[in-house]
Amino acid sequence: MEKLNVGVGLVPTRNEMSIAGGHEVRPYVLSHSIRLGSLALAHNIILSPMVGVTDAPFRRLCARGGSALMSGEMLSSQAIKFQNKKTLALLKFYPDERPVSSQIMGAEPSVMAEAAKIVENYGADVIDVNAGCPVPKIVKTKSGSALLKDEKRFAAILSAIVQAVKIPVTVKIRIGVRENEYLAPALAKLAEGCGVAAVIVHARPVSKRHSGRPDWEGLRQTVEAVNIPVIGNGGVNIPKDAEDFLRISGCAGVSVGRAAIGDIWIFNRIRHYLETGEEQSPPLEQEKLEVLWQHAQWAAEFFGERTGLLRLRKIVPYYVAGFPNAATFRSRANKIATLREWEELIEDTRKTFI
Ligand SMILES: Cc1cc2nc3c(=O)[nH]c(=O)nc-3n(C[C@H](O)[C@H](O)[C@H](O)COP(=O)(O)O)c2cc1C
Repeated sequence: MEKLNVGVGLVPTRNEMSIAGGHEVRPYVLSHSIRLGSLALAHNIILSPMVGVTDAPFRRLCARGGSALMSGEMLSSQAIKFQNKKTLALLKFYPDERPVSSQIMGAEPSVMAEAAKIVENYGADVIDVNAGCPVPKIVKTKSGSALLKDEKRFAAILSAIVQAVKIPVTVKIRIGVRENEYLAPALAKLAEGCGVAAVIVHARPVSKRHSGRPDWEGLRQTVEAVNIPVIGNGGVNIPKDAEDFLRISGCAGVSVGRAAIGDIWIFNRIRHYLETGEEQSPPLEQEKLEVLWQHAQWAAEFFGERTGLLRLRKIVPYYVAGFPNAATFRSRANKIATLREWEELIEDTRKTFI
């Protein structure tokens, strides 16, 4: 596949681009479609997987908000293989959340391959392999980010999965385990050799977990090492970040994590910005409230009223950040567990916006 050279010095900056009548006349090349093997994504801004967050209700919302790929939360390959009911229940995919990627975690190639086949049969469009989770209890089982230091197992898992399924396989890795330790280029090359369709790289080392400054520049070596798309991740919070990320790293695409929680429209805003250079306003409180209400209804439908609304509690602060009555809203939301009470809370809050 032809590599997109979209890095520093290769793409004109906005100021260098030709301007006619105040409008840029050249389509901005940082926004483009990407191909994951047999699957063409509409564009290159996608949702990042997040445990406890990127469940079906949230993925459906992110599809509305313009993500080109909806990534499901990490699921244990053992739990899938042994038909754990709660895990299998998470493998329900709705028509309005496609294309959807399902992430699996594990250390045994044969179990991972079996789990991937099951996930494919449940209807996922992409299998993503977790090779970046920093949580000690996962690392102890030789899974997640432990795979970054275990090339043999990493390759065995990817090869086994690629051979087991027909859908595209991607792998999500970290740039390295420690700062300035670039393990990603060699791992990406290895993954490419195993038949993986794209590599997703979190630009923070495992030692930093999910905080600290991501090393966007450090991703360039990975992009240059392979001919498959490299999707970068980490620290994209506003549309301008995505532009900087793509330009600095040379990545083919960007995956957005926390910035999408409570602001599902970020994908559309990033895409619009990359294409036009125009910053759209963030959502109004009223709009956030409407999405939160939809989220509550879909969470109740998917998980059952009580479980769904309990899960929603930890996401509420993201939606209401910046509301004048955020603290009151949060404390009321933390006490309620029925849709009826949620409807009242939404209705009462709506009135305060008029
Ligand atoms: C609550 C939470 C859960 C996460 N769960 C997963 C996961 O299941 N699989 C995964 O590969 N990464 C997971 N991540 C990492 C994110 O996908 C992403 O790499 C990270 O948040 C950095 O991106 P951001 O700076 O855009 O948030 C999680 C992150 C958070 C904050």
